[in-house]
Amino acid sequence: MTSSAIAHTADLQAALVRRLGAASVITDPQDQVRYCRDWHGDVTSGAVAVLRPDSTQAVAEAVRVCAELGLAVVPQGGNTGLVLGATPDDPQHQVVLTLERMNRVRSMDPGDFSAVVEAGCVLQQVQEAAEDAGMFLGLSLGAEGSCQIGGNISTNAGGINVLRYGMAREQVLGLEVVLPDGTILDALGTLRKDNRGIDIKQLFIGAEGILGVVTAVSLKLHPRPEQVETALLGVDSLHTAIALYRRARRDCCDLMTAFEFMPPSAFMLAREAIPSLTLPIAMDHPGYVLMELSGSGLVDMRALLDRFLENVMADELVRDGVVAASRAQAANLWKFREAMNEGQAQRGAHLRTDVSVSLSQLSSFVEQAETRLRAEFPDCLTLSYGHVGDGNVHINVIPPASADAVERDRVIHDAKDCINAVIDEFRGSISAEHGIGRLKRPEFEARISDPRRQLLTAIKRAIDPDGRLNPNCQIRCNA
Ligand code: FAD
Ligand code: LAC
Ligand code: ZN
Repeated sequence: MTSSAIAHTADLQAALVRRLGAASVITDPQDQVRYCRDWHGDVTSGAVAVLRPDSTQAVAEAVRVCAELGLAVVPQGGNTGLVLGATPDDPQHQVVLTLERMNRVRSMDPGDFSAVVEAGCVLQQVQEAAEDAGMFLGLSLGAEGSCQIGGNISTNAGGINVLRYGMAREQVLGLEVVLPDGTILDALGTLRKDNRGIDIKQLFIGAEGILGVVTAVSLKLHPRPEQVETALLGVDSLHTAIALYRRARRDCCDLMTAFEFMPPSAFMLAREAIPSLTLPIAMDHPGYVLMELSGSGLVDMRALLDRFLENVMADELVRDGVVAASRAQAANLWKFREAMNEGQAQRGAHLRTDVSVSLSQLSSFVEQAETRLRAEFPDCLTLSYGHVGDGNVHINVIPPASADAVERDRVIHDAKDCINAVIDEFRGSISAEHGIGRLKRPEFEARISDPRRQLLTAIKRAIDPDGRLNPNCQIRCNA
C-alpha cells in the first residue's frame, strides 16, 4: 500500500470507530485474518475493518455509514462457504460485516412448529434449540458446528437432509433483511400460507449477500424424530446405489432422510484426518451408501429397515452392510462422511466441485467425467461422493503430494474445465448447493442466457444501484 492509501485507510477506520463504536470495529490486521481468509485457507485478503454489529438497528447503521464513506460491505456468517463469497477481495474499499454477535433465539413455538432466530445463530445451536423444544430443523450439513443460519439462507444450503426436507429455502417462513441503503425490510412472519403478491423474501434466499444483509429468520420446524436408524452399505457401483435409492424411496414409506454415496477413498481420507476412526465393514467394496431412516410416531423404524435390507440383499443390490446399534455407532458412521472433507483439506490445494444432473443420468455423467479425468490427470486422486439422492455429486481432484503450487493451479483449472465440459453435455448445474461466490462467477456468467442476465442485473441495480453489497460476488451491477 502507498502511504496515501495507508493514511486513507486510517481515516476510514477512525470514522468507522467514531460512528459505530470501538467494540464493533476490528482494525488490527492480525485480528482480521480469520474473517479475511476462506475456510480452506486457499485465499487470504484484508479489509478496511471488520464490523461486528449486535442488533438489526446496528446492522442498518453500519450499512448506512459504509455507504456514506464509499465502502462496500461483504456480509459474513460462519465463513464456511466454499466459493469465496464471504471474504473480501479489495482491502482498501471493503469491510466485512460479521453477524456473529446476532445469535439470539428470539422465539420457539412448538404449537406452530416454528421459530424465529437471529441470522448469526450457528446452525447447530438452532438444531439444538429446536430439539430441546421437541421439534426438528430439517437442515443439516458437515459445517453445522460453524456455519450460521443467515449464511445457510444466503447460500440456500443443501446438505444431507434435502431429499426429505428440501434445501434451506424450504425451511424459511419469513426474513428480516437490511437493504443496501440501511432500510429494514420486516418480512418475518410465520404464516404457512401467504399469497399476498410476489413473495419478496425469496429474492434474498441464495442471494449470497448481494441484495441485503439477512438479520433474522423465521423457520419451519418438524416433529422431532424419536427413531433414527442408520446403515452403512457396501454396493457394486454408483449405478447400483441409485437403483437402491429408488427402491428405498418406494419401500421405506418416505421415511428416508439421508442417502450419501462414498467411494472407498473417502475412508482413507477420513482416516488421514482422524486416524482412530474404525470402519465396521470391509474396505474393498467399489462404493458405499450411508443411509438414514427417521421419523416420529408409531412406525417401527428398525423393523422397516431390517425388512428392506433383507429384500435388497436378496436382490443383490447390497453386497454387505451394518446397521448402527446405538446413536454413538451412528455418529461414528457419520464421522467418516464428515472427516473426509478435512482429509481432503489436509492434502493441500485441490479441485472441489459441486454439480448436479438429473438422477437418471447421474451414474453415466460420473462415469464419463471420471474416465476423462483419469486419462488426463493419471497422477491425481479423483473421487465422486455426496448427496446423490438429489442428483448432486462432488467430483474432486486432488493432486499428488509432490505437486508444487504451479502444478496444483494447472490441475485445478484444467480439471474444472474438463468436468464443466461434461456437465454442459448433460445440461447439468455447475453449482448444485454451494452457490457462485467470487470463485464461480466466470463459469456462471459464461453460461447464463441473455434474458436471465438482464433480469439478474436489473434486480441487482434496483436494490443495490451503487453496488455496495458484496460487489464482486455472484452477479454484478454491470454484468
Ligand atoms: P458464509 O460462508 O459466511 O457466507 C456464505 C455467503 O453468504 C457469502 O456470500 C456471504 O456474503 C453470504 N452471507 C452470509 N451470511 C449472510 C447474511 N446474514 N446476510 C446476507 N448474506 C450473508 N454446503 C451445502 O450446501 N451442503 C453441504 O453439505 C455442505 N457441507 C459443507 C461441509 C464443510 C466441511 C464445509 C466447510 C462447508 C460445507 N458447505 C456445504 C458449504 C457451507 O457450509 C454452506 O454454504 C453454508 O450455508 C455457509 O454458511 P456460512 O454461515 O458459513 O456462510
Ligand atoms: C459435502 C460438502 C462439500 O457434501 O458440500 O461434504
Ligand atoms: Zn455437499
